[in-house]
Amino acid sequence: MYDVITFGSAVMDVFVDTDTAEKGKYMGYKVGSKILIKDLEFDIGGGGTNTAVAFSRLGMKTGYIGKIGDDESGRKILDLLKKEKIKFLGKIKQGAISGYSLILDSKEDNRTILTYKGINNELGFDEIKLRKIKTKWIYYSSLLGKSLNTQKKLATILTQKGVKFAFNPSDYLIKRINLKPFLKLCEVLILNKEEAKMLTKNKDLLIGLHKLGPKIVVVTDKNKLISCYDSHNKKKYYLKPNKIKVVERTGAGDAFASGFVAGLIRNKSIMQSLKLGLRESEGVIKHFGAKNNLLRMRLK
Ligand SMILES: Nc1ncnc2c1ncn2[C@@H]1O[C@H](COP(=O)(O)OP(=O)(O)OP(=O)(O)O)[C@@H](O)[C@H]1O
Ligand SMILES: [Mg+2]
Repeated sequence: MYDVITFGSAVMDVFVDTDTAEKGKYMGYKVGSKILIKDLEFDIGGGGTNTAVAFSRLGMKTGYIGKIGDDESGRKILDLLKKEKIKFLGKIKQGAISGYSLILDSKEDNRTILTYKGINNELGFDEIKLRKIKTKWIYYSSLLGKSLNTQKKLATILTQKGVKFAFNPSDYLIKRINLKPFLKLCEVLILNKEEAKMLTKNKDLLIGLHKLGPKIVVVTDKNKLISCYDSHNKKKYYLKPNKIKVVERTGAGDAFASGFVAGLIRNKSIMQSLKLGLRESEGVIKHFGAKNNLLRMRLK
């Protein structure tokens, strides 16, 4: 029995640092030019694997569902999962290219991302082995297409059996897809403020979101107040992030959400769980990379 199974993307992130300067809102490469790369770094990213690593390092028995190719990136993704003691419960497709992102850093340290989602969004429901999906919780991050349909079908089946469902959709999903069928099934919904405003017109964001289905709602707002509503005891909770120096913020949202949910999985109070989410996100922000600095400790 797993404590949690995550279902989301797995991507090879390639960080390309050049001396290309920004011009206004753009960063441009001259046609026909050859640009020298100053620094090149590789890292496995994607909401599905980032959060699986966070859960596993906190001592949860963790599985991951997603789809990858049998290419070099796919092998690196599998290596990471193995190293982090996460069971791969997804599908490897022969001849397919795994998810891949080129993160082009400008001289001013902003970035443009070219991302190839590819095979991530092509996981069919018949490609997962339902009998192996025995878990207390499922945690979803954003996927589209066939994989999104698979997510919906799986969440419907599992929540009927009493499995708890945590969801952290991003803005591009909220813009494109009617998420109401998912929200009805949610035990926990975690969003940032902009995303929350897209889903509800209610002035009270927490209550507006709760009315769409989720029992527990959390809204984050960068370095501003984190707010939470728990409908089980009809209470609201607030937590202020600490002042920290931002080094690289990729993965902050994933770290917060997985830390919070890990607390709930181990029956911590809402406040203790929020504090764990905060600690995870701050750790990630203070260091380069989405998961390098995730906590390693056995949560009891
Ligand atoms: N500048 C910051 N200073 C301190 N803490 C921060 C900062 N930015 C983010 N955090 C922490 O990370 C949490 C999540 O950040 P945020 O609200 O930006 O989520 P997000 O927009 O979903 O992030 P992501 O883009 O990674 O999905 C915050 O609640 C806070 O705890
Ligand atoms: Mg987010």
